[in-house]
Amino acid sequence: MQDLLNAILAKAAGELPGLRSRPDFEAAKARYVGPNGELTQVMKKMGAVPKEERPAVGKMINEAKVSLQALLDQALSTIEASELAAQLGPKIDPTLPSPDLGPGTMHPLTHVREEMCRILRKVGFSVADGPEVETEYYCFDALNTPADHPARDAQDTFYFPGSTQFGNITRKNPNEKYLLRTHTSSVQIRTMLKGNPPIRIVSPGRVYRRDTSDATHSANFHQLECLSVDRNVTVRDLKSLLDHVFSSLLGSDTKIRFRPHYFGYTEPSFEVDLSAKHLPKVNKEWIEIGGCGMVDPTVFSGVGYDPNVWSGYAFGMGLERLAMLLYGIDDIRYFYQNDIRFLKQFSQSK
Ligand code: DAH
Repeated sequence: MQDLLNAILAKAAGELPGLRSRPDFEAAKARYVGPNGELTQVMKKMGAVPKEERPAVGKMINEAKVSLQALLDQALSTIEASELAAQLGPKIDPTLPSPDLGPGTMHPLTHVREEMCRILRKVGFSVADGPEVETEYYCFDALNTPADHPARDAQDTFYFPGSTQFGNITRKNPNEKYLLRTHTSSVQIRTMLKGNPPIRIVSPGRVYRRDTSDATHSANFHQLECLSVDRNVTVRDLKSLLDHVFSSLLGSDTKIRFRPHYFGYTEPSFEVDLSAKHLPKVNKEWIEIGGCGMVDPTVFSGVGYDPNVWSGYAFGMGLERLAMLLYGIDDIRYFYQNDIRFLKQFSQSK
């Protein structure tokens, strides 16, 4: 009997460690301990063993059973470990550099905005903020743009329904309509109403127009506004500031020029053209980049500043346009698509 058991154990010890899959394991297990298994057959012989030998034989069989079970357990855990390893895939070396995309890059619009604010902060401007939802007063009336002005046409602007309420956006008159601001010039008014001159602010932010999207238009885009109010401010101050800002941003070969224009809130008013032939993608001699002028006395009176004491200049420009010039981007829609192939091209710019 002992020999028989030893033979079974020796066979199991030779066979079981080599098993590699669960079906093979189950089949082998059945061959040993299943209803017709080799060990089971031996156990069935117990009935024929004389009574006095039974304790010794029972002990022998039990020991063989325990040893066989240990071999089966060992084989199963080897199979389980290899199944888990297959699920986990190849070993990871945690000391290698990360295979992911790495840190993000600055969006080109963010870069231009930050750069402009940095240049302007250096010459005494501080950053001011204003809401994107505005009222007619801050966006138009206070900027000397009366109700019958074409800029207020519902075709140009997104108005909210009359019943809309915004608890955090102050209105001058209770019946005023809310709208999405069409320019950052509204921040001029909010800033002047909050404090006294001298004032030097730069205000970047998102603005909205009822434009159909194409290569050069978007229903929302970004502007940057500047306002300086002090005593004896002249057009020369405005021109020299803009000379400084654009040559700092685009290089010292950059030139700007003023063309007479009309804006309700400045007098005189100008459009600003820029020439930067050293930029590879700028092939036109002059490119329009923004509007500016000397703050209209009517605007000062409206916010309670004495126009005989205070003078100032303001300008506003589109950030997309500037970024397009700077980087040679020919379609405004790229800025908003979040396509990593586009964005990563500007990683070196910060
Ligand atoms: N608000 C004008 C626009 O959106 C730009 C502008 C023109 C801003 C003249 C100014 C300014 O501050 O003085 O086109």
